[in-house]
Amino acid sequence: MSPPGSSPLLRMRGIVKQFPGVRALDGVDLEVRRGEVHCLLGQNGAGKSTLIKVLSGAHQPDAGEVLIDGEPVRLATPTAAMKAGIATIYQELDLVDGLSVAENLFLGHERSRYGFVRRGEANKAARELLARLGHPEIPPTREVGRLSPAAQQVVSMARALTHDARVLVMDEPSAALAHDEVDNLFRIIREMTATGVAVIYISHRLEEIRQIGDRVTVLKDGRTVAVGLPADTTPTEQIISLMTGRNVEYVFPPRPAGPATGPEVLRVENLTLPGRFADVSFGVRAGEIVGLAGLVGAGRSEILETIYGKRRPASGRVLLDGRPIRPGSTEAAVRRGMGLAPEERKSQALLLDQSVTANITMAALTRYASAGWLDRRRERADARAQIDALDIRPADPERPVRTLSGGNQQKVVLARWLVQGRRLLLLDEPTRGVDVGARAELYALIRRLADDGIAVLLVSSEVPEVLGLADRVLVIREGRLVHQAPAAELDEHRVLNLIMEGSAA
Ligand SMILES: Nc1ncnc2c1ncn2[C@@H]1O[C@H](COP(=O)(O)OP(=O)(O)OP(=O)(O)O)[C@@H](O)[C@H]1O
Ligand SMILES: [Mg+2]
Repeated sequence: MSPPGSSPLLRMRGIVKQFPGVRALDGVDLEVRRGEVHCLLGQNGAGKSTLIKVLSGAHQPDAGEVLIDGEPVRLATPTAAMKAGIATIYQELDLVDGLSVAENLFLGHERSRYGFVRRGEANKAARELLARLGHPEIPPTREVGRLSPAAQQVVSMARALTHDARVLVMDEPSAALAHDEVDNLFRIIREMTATGVAVIYISHRLEEIRQIGDRVTVLKDGRTVAVGLPADTTPTEQIISLMTGRNVEYVFPPRPAGPATGPEVLRVENLTLPGRFADVSFGVRAGEIVGLAGLVGAGRSEILETIYGKRRPASGRVLLDGRPIRPGSTEAAVRRGMGLAPEERKSQALLLDQSVTANITMAALTRYASAGWLDRRRERADARAQIDALDIRPADPERPVRTLSGGNQQKVVLARWLVQGRRLLLLDEPTRGVDVGARAELYALIRRLADDGIAVLLVSSEVPEVLGLADRVLVIREGRLVHQAPAAELDEHRVLNLIMEGSAA
């Protein structure tokens, strides 16, 4: 409870936002106190990002009001919101690729105290800010488009700090971060809240919410269904049933007993990409799910990309069904039956302005082509089947992917590879941004694919996910395969040790 007489720092009341065909927000209430970490929870498409876009001035609400310190404010533009003390880190990074780190940090500050005259001053201030965030290694002069996703996330955060924020909004900030980086993020959050700044934190990882959160508001279908729940003590079942309106069990599908005995689909021999990974060898059998555990930057995504032909190895080879595959050719990889769901869905995978159907079927177009005609009926039927299987919402095959929530976009990327019979699926962070209810369904689906005889190679930064879903776990550290074992013989503590120390003891 707020002390009597003191109003909350931020209050949003009865917020409504209608998009064509979708009422994204249907009267949402939110109340945030000074110095707290307020978590916003809800299923994919519940309205979380839309609500914070209203708060950050990116969307205008159709009804409702926003009060800061008890005073109504009008957040007509992002600039107005910044002036009101609201800084936002969006779910989809919004950095400008052609500009340097420093230029991105101080964009729009031309007339503020950061309105530098000289580039040197801007670079110096950028360096200080990045050092404060624990990332002195990011060069202020580097073009942001050339940074890793994790480093871009840091820049995005640094930019939010250049505004004297009273409310800092973070929409799935940890999605692109590894374990140690999340600790760093939490350190920064604690520093901010200690000075009275309020943080609104959106994440689908419940462990994080328990660790960093003070109170929780739950959204469901554009409405507030619970306010002020204690973040550390509210039982998980209660949170999930508030989010989903039903009791979902957050469990992994059962594994087949004993080691996989199917034929080996993928074999990787002494694969080496200098500076990234070296001398990596392993196999994946039909019906088997193999998980790659490791830190961001350990080389896991690069291994996947090399297998898929997006990168050409310096040495070593990749065999599919016992036959070597042409290195450095994604065409060969796709023809031989590989599919890759990449980690960066926005830039690498989705045609944002095209329909859900087009995005799902684009890699399988030959399936629908005959004598120069596209079999649209069959294409639509396939897309429809995947929309149902993955519970993509809204279930509208014609909707442009841009208008889907983050988690639903992720499902579209996965659906693309499920429409066509693949021999090998390479999944890079497949549940990033997917809500806890839908995750369980996704796990079951991946297991079903394996049971149908597909080989699955999975990268996930969430150790419990690798342990729960995979049959076998390979630990990658600094580009080396340091350990492998059946998942059933490992536990989280041991995997974390291996990831950090690389000691196989
Ligand atoms: N620009 C838009 N045009 C049309 N519909 C939209 C637009 N932006 C969001 N929506 C719809 O509004 C609803 C809420 O989406 P929102 O992005 O707020 O969800 P979310 O809670 O952030 O979900 P996630 O956890 O997947 O990120 C969804 O049904 C989405 O499809
Ligand atoms: Mg969102």
